[in-house]
Amino acid sequence: MFVVGGKDVARPIATMPGVAQLSVDRAVALAKEASEVGVHAVILFGIPETKDAKGSSGWDDQGPVPLAVRALKGALPDLLVITDVCMCEYTDHGHCGLLDGGEVDNDKTLDLLAKEAICHARAGADIVAPSDMMDGRVGRIRKALDGEGFSQTAILSYAVKYASTFYGPFREAAASAPRQGPTHRRSYQMDPGNVREALREVRHDIDEGADMVMVKPALPYLDIVAAVRGAVDVPVAAYNVSGEYAMIKAAAAAGMLDETAAMLEVLTSIRRAGADIIVTYHALEASRVLGGA
Ligand code: PBG
Ligand code: ZN
Repeated sequence: MFVVGGKDVARPIATMPGVAQLSVDRAVALAKEASEVGVHAVILFGIPETKDAKGSSGWDDQGPVPLAVRALKGALPDLLVITDVCMCEYTDHGHCGLLDGGEVDNDKTLDLLAKEAICHARAGADIVAPSDMMDGRVGRIRKALDGEGFSQTAILSYAVKYASTFYGPFREAAASAPRQGPTHRRSYQMDPGNVREALREVRHDIDEGADMVMVKPALPYLDIVAAVRGAVDVPVAAYNVSGEYAMIKAAAAAGMLDETAAMLEVLTSIRRAGADIIVTYHALEASRVLGGA
């Protein structure tokens, strides 16, 4: 869910039919609806009122994500609340780390990510999910959480995140496309042609304390999901990203595909590849069709 400030706001996202930016009250209402049909976990992305070079709205206790976490846990104590931890939603330049001399500075970013993770944990997040792809951030976040008394807050690492064009609709939704410095994220996200780096990334993140690892995108990378599933013994998540969702929606709207059948086939294939957890914008629809509870 994409969370914004205000009340009773549901701003549709043009590139993601059926998905909207929601104020906290509307996010709680949607989570209630979701949990009634069997979706018991949500992941939150914040769209802050202000952005700056350091992404400081990312660790504002009054920001949309911490406020949403508190409201969701208050209304639905059993809902599993996951927060995306990254800087691109909060920086004016749109990069996932600090820009320095026209490049993203890995090491200077780590403490800022740790601050954001602590802010989410303080609000009551069950799981923090760093998606920035800086090296060493899982270890830094784990240490910071433990130091602040949040040893029970789990880490779902976006361990294997390729520099993919399939994130396009999301960047529209979160207004997080790079606007200064490099126009791409290839210095920190992974090369789509590289398989072995995926296995190195998951090993590093698990060594640093990741409780679960994620592969992203899902559909064009099912070989990677399968390879990671075979290589590690923690839960493996796959993220069926915005562009994968948009493809099905657009094809269905044009009368080119049976939407429900296509959605279920895609989700089945991600599961077949070995994903224990699927992060998907289809969650509510799929759960309704499958009659989960
Ligand atoms: C933030 C983030 C992104 C996504 C999840 N977390 C965007 C990006 O890396 O550009 C993409 C998810 C999607 O496309 O659905 N770093
Ligand atoms: Zn980011």
